[in-house]
Amino acid sequence: MKLTTLTPAIIALLPTVAAWGSLGHETVAYVASNFVAAETKELFQKLLYNDTSSYLANVATWADSFRYTAAGRFSAPFHFIDAEDNPPTSCSVTYSRDCGEKGCVVGAIQNYTSQLLDTTLPAGTRNMAAKFIVHFVGDIHQPLHDEALDIGGNTVLVTFGGVKTNLHHVWDTNMPEKLIGGYSLAYAEKWAETLTTAITTGIYRSLAASWLDGIDLADPVTTSLSWAEEANAFVCTTVLPNGVEAVADQELDGDYYTAAVPVIQLQVARAGYRLARWLDLIAQSVAAKEKPEL
Ligand SMILES: *[C@@H]1O[C@H](CO)[C@@H](O)[C@H](O)[C@H]1NC(C)=O
Ligand SMILES: *[C@@H]1O[C@H](CO)[C@@H](O)[C@H](O)[C@H]1NC(C)=O
Ligand SMILES: [Zn+2]
Repeated sequence: MKLTTLTPAIIALLPTVAAWGSLGHETVAYVASNFVAAETKELFQKLLYNDTSSYLANVATWADSFRYTAAGRFSAPFHFIDAEDNPPTSCSVTYSRDCGEKGCVVGAIQNYTSQLLDTTLPAGTRNMAAKFIVHFVGDIHQPLHDEALDIGGNTVLVTFGGVKTNLHHVWDTNMPEKLIGGYSLAYAEKWAETLTTAITTGIYRSLAASWLDGIDLADPVTTSLSWAEEANAFVCTTVLPNGVEAVADQELDGDYYTAAVPVIQLQVARAGYRLARWLDLIAQSVAAKEKPEL
């Protein structure tokens, strides 16, 4: 759908294009802080000027405010990749087809990773790069941030618990908040604890190692594109299994929600676990550069 065909009522809903709401992003950040190495924590506490255990969660939603400022407008396309696929018949993401001229989340992960690795850059530049990476690794795991159809579901009007909203917002915010019961930092920390236990001793224990398959700091595009492809596949199976018509104007707090919950849990857990490894790889590379050879 072209932007020019949008009604004012729909345009009013557009500022909710934010991927996971604050609860999702902060939970991803807390899961990551539960898995990073000690030297990673030390580096990122320094880069982010925060020595509390919430150093990552504290900046997890900064990019969603920045994109709506004049100075940050350039970064708005970095929150997603508009896969021009054809759900639910076929889902796919292709870098050359889908990463627009103004950039996309895959290119942004590459860009800000390389800035973090360049220790000659000013502290302010690497601070901003760190804030972007913490946010974008969350965004890319939200299936509707890897989908062009109806602006990532933003123009698909639905209701959730009787409240009028749109499909994108249901995935960002309504369903995670219903699942957890609130959206404060404390709720995020508690959800992250649950997911961390699931990764270390629970339902994800046998899967977590495979979540890191192919992760390669030397190739951020291939690495993050594989995360985008995996999330985008859920658009065909779980987000729109019967097409847009099946959800448009429907109440989604019911069977739809029940089917979505395992995907939400899995994607937030994966995002946090992968973010931890990504930051570890960055910290290792930075340490190797800074340590003189003996
Ligand atoms: C560090 O993050 C916590 C959690 O968001 C926040 O309360 C605190 O003010 C932050 N500290 C600094 C120095 O910004
Ligand atoms: C890389 O980051 C800089 C600084 O934020 C930004 O100006 C530029 O547009 C980014 N490039 C890409 C390809 O994302
Ligand atoms: Zn975002």
